[in-house]
Amino acid sequence: MIVNGLSKSKRLNNSVALHYRLGNVDDIDAVFSLNQQSFSEAWSKKSLLDVMLAGFDLYICEDGDLLIAYLLSQDILDETHIMQIAVLPDYQRQGIGRQLTQWLFNNKSEQSLILLEVRASNKGAQAMYQGLGFQHIGTRKAYYKARNIGETPENAIVMQYMTSRKII
Ligand SMILES: CC(C)(COP(=O)(O)OP(=O)(O)OC[C@H]1O[C@@H](n2cnc3c(N)ncnc32)[C@H](O)[C@@H]1OP(=O)(O)O)[C@@H](O)C(=O)NCCC(=O)NCCS
Repeated sequence: MIVNGLSKSKRLNNSVALHYRLGNVDDIDAVFSLNQQSFSEAWSKKSLLDVMLAGFDLYICEDGDLLIAYLLSQDILDETHIMQIAVLPDYQRQGIGRQLTQWLFNNKSEQSLILLEVRASNKGAQAMYQGLGFQHIGTRKAYYKARNIGETPENAIVMQYMTSRKII
């Protein structure tokens, strides 16, 4: 699979068929590449491999052979944590992040909660989560390390989505 090579914005139209599927360890190279493009604190390839082997779930969206988005989640008891979600920049704002998260909701309907942390400055991601029904439930102070010398660490906004499952 390839994750680069797009030089101009790729606007989707009805003729473009995106393919959503569960990922596996064979997708690590493509996920690693998109991970590096998307996060200032990118994970190493080994970390990604370790979490896949530990049973994290990987949801993928492809345009042909091109990996254009992924969502990585971890189940902890009856909670599911969204660890990472990323959409290739040329494919953003076309509903793909929302689609991947809704797919997670469907797959995890037996869980009680879906949780995540997001940078306080990442208003776009927060808007997507709010639109999907997540609520801001707290703040973790200085959760993200400073990106550069002289900068301060950044707070994380903690967001929660209650599934319809009742906790007994
Ligand atoms: C956050 C991210 C995954 C969103 O994916 P996406 O496919 O672009 O999002 P969608 O197109 O599904 O957006 C759904 C809604 O969320 C909101 N939204 C998404 N991105 C937004 C932005 N940059 N600014 C404002 N609102 C935004 C909008 O309400 C949007 O609906 P609209 O386009 O009809 O207005 C993507 O921007 C990304 O990969 N960012 C880099 C990595 C990252 O920040 N991950 C999240 C870490 S918690």
